[in-house]
Amino acid sequence: MAELAGVSVRTLHHYDAIRRVRPSARTAGGYRAYSADDVERLREVLAYRRLGFGLREIAELVGDPSADAVAHLRRLRGLLLEQRDRADAMVASIDRELDARAKGRKVAPEEQLEMLGARLYDAIGGAYPATRCTEPRIAAQIWDALGDARTVLNVGAGTGSYEPADRDVTAVEPSAVMRGQRPAGSAPCVAAAAESLPFEDCSFDVAMAVSTVHHWRDPLGRFFRIIGSLDRVCR
Ligand SMILES: C[S@@+](CC[C@H](N)C(=O)[O-])C[C@H]1O[C@@H](n2cnc3c(N)ncnc32)[C@H](O)[C@@H]1O
Repeated sequence: MAELAGVSVRTLHHYDAIRRVRPSARTAGGYRAYSADDVERLREVLAYRRLGFGLREIAELVGDPSADAVAHLRRLRGLLLEQRDRADAMVASIDRELDARAKGRKVAPEEQLEMLGARLYDAIGGAYPATRCTEPRIAAQIWDALGDARTVLNVGAGTGSYEPADRDVTAVEPSAVMRGQRPAGSAPCVAAAAESLPFEDCSFDVAMAVSTVHHWRDPLGRFFRIIGSLDRVCR
């Protein structure tokens, strides 16, 4: 099994000891015997590991009773596509800069950072629905925190994973690829960014932002200015 999977016997023993991949039987000679299901589990653990997940996160992923082998394959596929798209976009950006430099042209800072910031999700967003579904425990906490707010602004909304269905939500999302993947019937979505919210003061009861603040520009002033900017549109 170690040879087939390209890992050491010690790694397999470790996964057994920490209960990540427990072979379901032993041979008469005491060797670990891996069933087809065990092999499937080992493949999942090793694939998530190569994608950079820690063993604790992997325990949660493979221990999820609602995810069968097909769900894991779909998720792994999506994560790999996301990595590939990110690498392709970075390579294309580097090629453009090398080309510009070879022609003696100086590349503007905005252009250098484009693929790391503003246009990132146009490059990698295609795999998003396969990899980032709503996590019910997180959703419950967010919806609870919204209190009795009726009108909600969701900034950096993506495909709308955490938008509550029982409130009047307005989404803001700068990436056309992400906007294009919002499910039919989801909240109206405005093409804009957190740095320039196109709303009057006091337009919403509350504003939310999930897994997006790290993308927002201007790291020095970002908390003050952007929370100030969110504050501007919230009652
Ligand atoms: C990790 S996704 C999160 C999407 C969604 N909030 C969710 O929880 O599924 C980050 C999102 O932030 C968006 N984003 C990036 N820069 C942004 C900015 N300056 N203002 C608003 N949204 C931004 C991206 O386009 C992307 O859709």
